[in-house]
Formats: sequence, structure tokens, C-alpha cells
Amino acid sequence: MDYLEIEGGKRLQGSIKISGAKNAALPVIAATLLCKGKTRLKNLPDVVDIRTLLKLLEMLGAKVGRGEDLVEIDNSDIVSTRAVYEIVSKMRASILVLGPLLGRFGVCEVSLPGGCAIGQRPIDLHLKALEAMGAHIEIKGGYIRAEAPEGLHGSRIIFDKITVGGTENVLMAASMAHGTTEIINAAREPEIIQLCEMLMSAGIEMEGVGSSRIKIHGSGGRALEFTKDISIIPDRIEAGTYLCAGAITYSQITLERVNIEHIQTTIDKLGVMGCDFEIKDDSITIFPADSLTEVNIVTAEYPGFPTDMQAQFMAVATLAQGESLIEERLFENRFMHVSELNRLGADIWLKGNVAAVKPVEKLYGADVMATDLRASSALVLAALAAEGTTRIRRIYHLDRGYDDLEGKLRRLNARVVRKKE
Ligand code: UD1
Repeated sequence: MDYLEIEGGKRLQGSIKISGAKNAALPVIAATLLCKGKTRLKNLPDVVDIRTLLKLLEMLGAKVGRGEDLVEIDNSDIVSTRAVYEIVSKMRASILVLGPLLGRFGVCEVSLPGGCAIGQRPIDLHLKALEAMGAHIEIKGGYIRAEAPEGLHGSRIIFDKITVGGTENVLMAASMAHGTTEIINAAREPEIIQLCEMLMSAGIEMEGVGSSRIKIHGSGGRALEFTKDISIIPDRIEAGTYLCAGAITYSQITLERVNIEHIQTTIDKLGVMGCDFEIKDDSITIFPADSLTEVNIVTAEYPGFPTDMQAQFMAVATLAQGESLIEERLFENRFMHVSELNRLGADIWLKGNVAAVKPVEKLYGADVMATDLRASSALVLAALAAEGTTRIRRIYHLDRGYDDLEGKLRRLNARVVRKKE
């Protein structure tokens, strides 16, 4: 198995380009299933999760053509609507094929995703919403079997809890339903807006895009056509992670191809910690703090502070002057990085869903283990700042979501190598 070896304590410098957002690309790829022909996607990040979903589509009968910065998905010959355990167990986001498969074919089977390292992560809200739209759903043998032979119908969906994936599944299913669907308490993440814009580019009428109340006027069973190329928005979490790399190593670095609005909460919190920024169109330069100030964070749905940036900020907060408090409100078990950061010399105490990050003078290199995607990036950040060598094992978590991580870090002058056990 591969591991990353990082020689820390070095200043970073230079400039890198941010890739397309994994979490925007996944629903976009799933939504191509609503189309009977070809869809062309640009700026897909080259990460394992994207390859996994493309493989799932190929197993359903899609033809995937890969060119330079262009992927063409041809869904004219879908021969199966069964998303098998072997793929879904690798990546929970495979559940995103449920809405489009049911919407277009009126029947599908998707393996139950199960829990994961950061918590239980149920999909009850996805299923309840699809049932409200007329689907008959049965769970048997580890699979969700959903049927709507006459097609889905519009409905008023009130989500008890804001769910990104649930909102995306309903948006895709509703776009082929008969009549109008209204989603109340919808997620408002930029990835949701990208998906809505994609559906609208195929002629689906929507109201309230970007708000927590979205109306979708379904096509009445007619498959969609995506005639325009779809370019994936920049990855706000990747951008935020590299800004944290600048902050924790006291380095000036520049990120190109970012959407500033999408990373505003990250910029604000790093500002509180003493960092400064220069913003030009779609590029941002971070100027490090003289010394990092403590910060308090509570994770929330967009436009609040992203749970996907919680671990990275915890790494930065370890080296602040005072004690930081970090509260996780979205996932019950998203603190697996705490004990690993403590192995690197951090002084973090957990009480329920709040982490108290007490200041330490320095971090020191050690052997650590990646546990989930964002937890792993927190370890990379801590390793960049730590004195000595850190070896991070189980980096397949990082490969799921960070495009060319070592390449980009090396371009920023970091000493990072991937090695085999
Ligand atoms: C997406 C992101 C993930 C991010 C998360 C929250 C993708 C591929 N993943 O995950 O990176 O951390 O949003 O911003 O885009 N819930 C239920 N029942 C449901 C669905 C969700 O109780 O049916 C709960 C979850 O357990 C969690 C909360 O709702 O506590 C939010 O989850 P959700 O927004 O659905 O996250 P994902 O779409 O899985």
C-alpha cells in the first residue's frame, strides 16, 4: 500500500491551479443518466471517486470517452439499472444514481450504502422524498428496489434536515416527473446550483434556484438532452485546504481558478486567525499571519462553515496562540483526526461534538493513519508544518478527492514523496 512521506517545517511558495469540484462533478455525472444521448463534461477532477462513478455508469451500459479535459458520456444504451454493492460500498455518493435511474426508467436497484467512518449517514430522507413522488420502495437483500412504472409525479417535499445528496436526488428525479415538485428546506451548496443549471440547460424550468425552496417543473417522462458542454465549478474544499496549507506553514501562496464567493467563510476564518488575502478575479493569494490567532468554528450547511473544512482548520488551530473551539454539527463522528493530530504533538481534547484545541509550540513528525478524506488532508497540513518526517498511511482516502495532491504540493515547494510499503 502507498504512503506519503512529508518532510515538514519548510516554507511553501508559488502558485497552483484548483481542479474541478468532486462534489459538483458526482451529481453532474449521475444526471447524465437523464439523457438518452451524449453529454460532454469539462474540468472533471482526476480523482478516484469520479473514476468509480464513471465505472458504475459503464456497468449500466454507458460509453465513456475520455479526451484531454473532456469526458463524453453516451447513455443511449443503458442495459441495466442495478447499482451493485461492489461499487456503492466503495463510494457512498453512488446513491446519486437512484433519482435519475428511477426518473428515467421507472425502476432501479441500488445497493444500500451503509455507514462510514464519519457517522451513520442514513438515506431515509432520499427514500421518503421519492416515495412522496409516487415511488414504491422496498429494501431487500441489502438493495433498495424502487419502482414507479407510470413515472414519478410532482410533490411537495419538506426535508426535516438539510441534505445535499437528498436534494440532488430529488432534483434529478423531479426533472423527469409529471407535474411540479417543490423542495422545501433544500440544500443551497454551489454544487446544487451547478446541478440546477445543468437541468435548466436541458429546458427544465425551475424557480428558487440557490434558495432553500426550489420548484421544478418536470418534463413529464421525456428524457433530457444536454447539448451544451458542462464545465465543473472549482473545488471550494480543495481551495480551502491549500489556503490552510499557506496558513499553517506561514507561507505566501497563490491559487488560480477559484470561485471566491464559494470560499468566503474559509477566507473569513483564516482572516480571524491573522491571515491576509489579495483577490484578483479568480485567483487568491494568502499572506500568512505574523502569529496565528485562535478561532471558534461551528460547522453548518452552506453558506455556513463547511464540515468538509473542519479537520483542516483543526490542524491550523493547533499552532495558534490561544485555545480554539471547534464544534461539529453535521456528522456525529467526524473527529477521527483528533487522535492522529495528537500523535503529531497537538493538544486536542474532545467533549461530545466539541473539540478544544489547545496551543502547542510545535508539531513533530510521526507515523499516522488517514481515516477519511478530509481527516487525511488535515494530517497532510499538520505534516507540512511539523518538524521532521511524517509518514501518512492509508492514503487511498486522499486519492478519492484530491487531484494530483503530491504534484501540487511539490509545485508549492513542499517535500512530499509517495512511497510503497
Ligand atoms: C455531502 C458531501 C459531503 C459533505 C456533506 C455535508 C458529496 C458527494 N458529499 O454529503 O462531502 O460533508 O454533503 O456538507 O457531495 N442525513 C439523514 N438522512 C438522509 C440524508 C442525510 O439523516 O437521508 C443526515 C446525514 O447523516 C448528515 C446530514 O444529514 O448528518 C447531512 O448529510 P448530507 O447533506 O446528505 O450529506 P451527503 O450528501 O452525504
